[in-house]
Amino acid sequence: MADYKTSNLPNPIFSLLFLTFLCLLGLYFVRHPHSHSQSIDFQQVFLSSATNSTLSTYLRALTLHPHVAGTPPSLRTLHYVQTHFTSLSLRTHTHSFDALLSYPLHASLSLHFPNATSLTLPLTEPGHSGRVVDPYHAYSPSGSFLAVPVFVNYGRREDYRALHAFGVSVRGCVAVARRRGDLPRSAVVAAAAERGAVAVLMYVDGDGKDDEWVGGVERGTVMGGLGDPLTPGWGGDEGGERLGVEDGEVKGRFPAVPSMPVSAQNARRILRWVDRATVPEEWRETVSGTVGTGTRPALLNFTYQVRMLANTAWGFLI
Ligand SMILES: *[C@@H]1O[C@H](CO)[C@@H](O)[C@H](O)[C@H]1NC(C)=O
Ligand SMILES: *[C@@H]1O[C@H](CO)[C@@H](O)[C@H](O)[C@H]1NC(C)=O
Ligand SMILES: *[C@@H]1O[C@H](CO)[C@@H](O)[C@H](O)[C@H]1NC(C)=O
Repeated sequence: MADYKTSNLPNPIFSLLFLTFLCLLGLYFVRHPHSHSQSIDFQQVFLSSATNSTLSTYLRALTLHPHVAGTPPSLRTLHYVQTHFTSLSLRTHTHSFDALLSYPLHASLSLHFPNATSLTLPLTEPGHSGRVVDPYHAYSPSGSFLAVPVFVNYGRREDYRALHAFGVSVRGCVAVARRRGDLPRSAVVAAAAERGAVAVLMYVDGDGKDDEWVGGVERGTVMGGLGDPLTPGWGGDEGGERLGVEDGEVKGRFPAVPSMPVSAQNARRILRWVDRATVPEEWRETVSGTVGTGTRPALLNFTYQVRMLANTAWGFLI
C-alpha cells in the first residue's frame, strides 16, 4: 500500500484546506473590494484628528467621573464620544441594550480578635472618598459571614493541592487570594466555592517596593462569560428574547459564593491574623507576620450586599 506521507504528493487534507482558504479569500475580496483602503482612511482620520494634547484631554474628560453602565453619567459619556466622532464627520449610530447589571449597595469588613475587640477595615480608597465607584465585584451574590480567613495564594488548583498536602481545608472559611492577571476572577471564586469556602476576598499584590498604590482596589466582574447574563450569546437588544434570572443557563454564570475586592493594605491587615499553621512554607514570605500556632486566629466579619437591576445600557457603532 502506498504511504502518502513518504511520497511527494501533497497531503489531500491540506490541499483541501488550502483550496477552501483560497475560495474564502476570493469571496472576501469580491464582497469587500475596497475594505483595505477604507480601513486606511479610518486610520488616517483618527491619526490626523488627534494630537498628544487632545488625546490627554479626551482621556481626562472620560475618566473624570464614574460612568458605570446603566447610570446617567454613562449616557453623558456616550454623548461626549458621539459629539467628537460626529465633529470628525464620522456617521454614528447609538443603540440601547437591556441588560441585567449589578451595583454595590453595602459592604463591610471587620476583624474580631480573641480578646473580644474588633477592628473595622476602611473600604474606601485613600483620597477618593465619594468620587469613585465603591469597590465591588459585579454579579457577586450578597452574604454575611463570620469566619476564619485562609490564605489560598492565587487560588489555583495547585494552590489547593498545596493546602491539602499541608492538611488545610478552606471549608467554612473566607478564602483570601492574591490576583493573577491570567486567572479569571470567576474561576478563583468557583475553585474556592467548590472546596466549601463561604466567601472570597481578592487583592492585587504590588511588587512590595512601590507602596503608592497599596490602598488601591481592583474592581471587576465575577460572572462567567461575557455580556448580559440574561441573553447569553445573543445580546440584549430592546424587546428581544431574554431568559429569566432563575433559568439554569443564567444561574450557572453567577458565582455560588460572595466575593469582594480589597486593597493590598487591607489584605495585609487580614493576613497578619491568619494562623501560621495554615500557611505552607513556600508562601510564608507573602504572608509574613502571621500569628503563630496556639493563638486563636482572628475571625473576619464579611458582609456584602449587592443590587441586581435590569437596566438599559448604551452602546454605539460608527
Ligand atoms: C506623543 O507622546 C509620545 C509618548 O510620550 C511621544 O513618543 C511622541 O513623540 C509624542 N508625539 C508628539 C507629536 O509630541
Ligand atoms: C485585643 O487584641 C488586639 C489584637 O492583638 C490588640 O490590638 C488590642 O490592643 C487588644 N485589646 C485589648 C483591650 O486587649
Ligand atoms: C458583621 O457586620 C455586619 C455589618 O456591619 C453587622 O450587621 C453584624 O452584626 C456583624 N456581625 C458580628 C457577629 O459582629
